[in-house]
Amino acid sequence: MFPLELPRRLIKMFSFYGDTVLDPFLGSGTTTKAALDLGRNSIGYEINKNFLSAIKSKIGINQEPALFRENFDCEIIYQKNNNKTNGNKTIGFNNNHIERLVDPKKFKFGTVIDMNGKQKKEDSYKVISISAPNEIVLDSGQKIRLLGVLPIEEEYYKKKAISFLNNLTSGNKVFVKYDGQKFDNAKNLLAYVYLQNKTFLNAKLIKKGLTKM
Ligand SMILES: C[S@@+](CC[C@H](N)C(=O)[O-])C[C@H]1O[C@@H](n2cnc3c(N)ncnc32)[C@H](O)[C@@H]1O
Repeated sequence: MFPLELPRRLIKMFSFYGDTVLDPFLGSGTTTKAALDLGRNSIGYEINKNFLSAIKSKIGINQEPALFRENFDCEIIYQKNNNKTNGNKTIGFNNNHIERLVDPKKFKFGTVIDMNGKQKKEDSYKVISISAPNEIVLDSGQKIRLLGVLPIEEEYYKKKAISFLNNLTSGNKVFVKYDGQKFDNAKNLLAYVYLQNKTFLNAKLIKKGLTKM
């Protein structure tokens, strides 16, 4: 068993909020506890079924929900016996209310480091209008089609999506990230759009049910 502070530091260093941490050797579940406390999901394997009660008590199943643990799901899967193992378990813990807003490994906001190691400010924009449930116009004049987002036909959803985007972007800077494919067949500029607080507009619209994929 190792102290909680050890996985805590490593998880903070090498993963982000909403990520999933795998511990192939759960033991008493220290890694999973640290992961859940830090808003990560966790999957763990433990071969010795006698550890299950220790794991449950360490991560606080059946206790008051701790920080980040509302809607906390825990699934315990017993692996079927085979010739090599006896009673091996997979134990998965899912902070399923956490939505992955951004992959910070790919995207950094505010400052970026260039090839010479110098920091420079990343371009940010203001949204001057929302031209469709999946389309915004920036103060640079660029019209951006939100990548992976399709409007729902009904007028109700279109209006809701536009007003949702208006509320989110009004008074806020936005950052634009392009994927491999920069234009669709109709030559629309495709991009992911984020707020400075890493709210991912494309995903938000879909998760709210205001647009489809
Ligand atoms: C050193 S303990 C891990 C302790 C854990 N980091 C903690 O702090 O609670 C290693 C664990 O790996 C488990 N283990 C060993 N071989 C395994 C296997 N093939 N599959 C799953 N668990 C295994 C052992 O039963 C033991 O509980």
